[in-house]
Amino acid sequence: MKRHPALIPLSHDHHDALVVARGLILGRATAPRSDWPPDRRAQVDRVTAFFSETLRAHFEAEEQSVYPVVAQGVTDGAAMVSDLIAEHEQIRKHVRDLETDPTSALDQRLPALGKLLESHIRTEERVLFEAMQEELGPAELEAVGAALARLPPRGPSCRISSEPV
Ligand SMILES: [Fe+2]
Ligand SMILES: [Fe+2]
Repeated sequence: MKRHPALIPLSHDHHDALVVARGLILGRATAPRSDWPPDRRAQVDRVTAFFSETLRAHFEAEEQSVYPVVAQGVTDGAAMVSDLIAEHEQIRKHVRDLETDPTSALDQRLPALGKLLESHIRTEERVLFEAMQEELGPAELEAVGAALARLPPRGPSCRISSEPV
């Protein structure tokens, strides 16, 4: 389904997050011209910077402006939202742990974070956004878009978005 304009800014962030997730899972770049670092320790800095610049605000935007509408207006929305919030918390914890200890067991911890991030984004794109577009009315979707537009701009994630997923 074509993405509703209200949700496109979040979908752009999702694209960037998937590029990061693939790099974390594979441990190497996914495209020839990518600047994703092959070194695991450098990947820690990339993912923590991506979190500070983009993902932290993205999660807050979803929790403030998207999830409450879904919990109210989409079939089984409350259960879906509680799972998604739990995943945000898990991802935040992984990032905090990497900030505290950026060196141990990176070959396990970075792919684990990548898989969590990838599956979270795929659920939002394939299940959450699809359900919103099917079940919410145009006025409700416009209201979500307007609420998202009032939030502070997210960081320069375009730095990593030139690479196709
Ligand atoms: Fe999310
Ligand atoms: Fe998201």
